Amino acid sequence: MGSALPLGSLPAAELFYWLGVATLTWLSLKAACRLLSGARVFVLGAGVEVGRFGRWAVVTGATDGIGKAYAKELAKHGMSIVLISRSQEKLDQVAKEIKEQFQVETKTITVDFGEGAEIYKIIEAGLAGLEIGVLVNNVGISYNYPEYFLDVPDLDNLINKMLNINIMSVCKMTRMILPAMVERSKGIILNVSSASALYPVPLLTLYSATKTFVDFFSQALQAEYKSKGIIVQSVLPFFVATKLSKIRKPTLDKPSPETYVKAALNTVGLQTQTNGYLPHAILGWITTSLLPVSLVIKQSMKMNQGLRARHLKKLKEKGD
Ligand SMILES: NC(=O)c1ccc[n+]([C@@H]2O[C@H](COP(=O)([O-])OP(=O)(O)OC[C@H]3O[C@@H](n4cnc5c(N)ncnc54)[C@H](OP(=O)(O)O)[C@@H]3O)[C@@H](O)[C@H]2O)c1
Repeated sequence: MGSALPLGSLPAAELFYWLGVATLTWLSLKAACRLLSGARVFVLGAGVEVGRFGRWAVVTGATDGIGKAYAKELAKHGMSIVLISRSQEKLDQVAKEIKEQFQVETKTITVDFGEGAEIYKIIEAGLAGLEIGVLVNNVGISYNYPEYFLDVPDLDNLINKMLNINIMSVCKMTRMILPAMVERSKGIILNVSSASALYPVPLLTLYSATKTFVDFFSQALQAEYKSKGIIVQSVLPFFVATKLSKIRKPTLDKPSPETYVKAALNTVGLQTQTNGYLPHAILGWITTSLLPVSLVIKQSMKMNQGLRARHLKKLKEKGD
């Protein structure tokens, strides 16, 4: 039979023992819940049928990488696609691929999201009259290589461009497209943030901070509009093999954009904030739940210092 001693009269060693047991039980329960919820999403899960939210999907930064993969995957679900990027030639090529592969309608809009608010008039005119069911705010830029804030080449220009592309585009596109979705009581907004939003990433300081904006914006917006039939999802990938990441060969933990997006689209309606792909979800769990933030920041700093040194050495060898 257990002793009926009040807590205050327990010897210190026993008190620490029971505190330890309680903490371990709590952490194990939390881990089990996370595991079960992960299994529900990534093993059993199939997200919502995107096609029933409206005829058209709009994808920003749609000619390469993750954006192109979203455009194709949504077309595979029978949606007509509006592709938005800077280069008309690349837009025409991707539009042709999509039409031939999936027999859906496409439309292209050529703008540079690095420019100011003027471009949104062009986009608005291009989208007039379309029933938009899905908006993918994907366009984004990062640093050319990891660097100390004050030493980032052409810093003032990069600040303007990165804020316009990574933040302004998300706010303005949402401002433009959400009202009609609310009117129809259905719509999906997928905002591509980054795992760099899960913790501060030194030597990618500005990028990491812009992606946190995208993540917070998405989560708060979802809380505001969920009851109006709108799904807002924040997508936080780790490395995906694209031009931006400069990773050419996909691996299990650095998948091709096609593999990544296929998995991510299955989480829509199941997770408001998602790493999108099982190996990335495991990485997300380790970095946010198991390791202290200070250690993750320290390790990111080390990794990025290594990448920076490699990049600068290559430049020196080339004589730049
Ligand atoms: N790849 C990764 O490892 C990774 C990880 C986490 C998050 N992300 C996020 O995922 C998103 C997509 O990245 P990605 O790796 O797929 O990039 P990417 O391969 O470089 O593709 C970027 C796309 O955006 C377009 N674009 C770039 N700048 C533009 C501008 N100023 N105006 C209009 N369009 C522009 C590009 O087309 P044009 O050049 O023809 O305009 C291209 O279609 C970004 O938001 C990124 O932050 C990527």
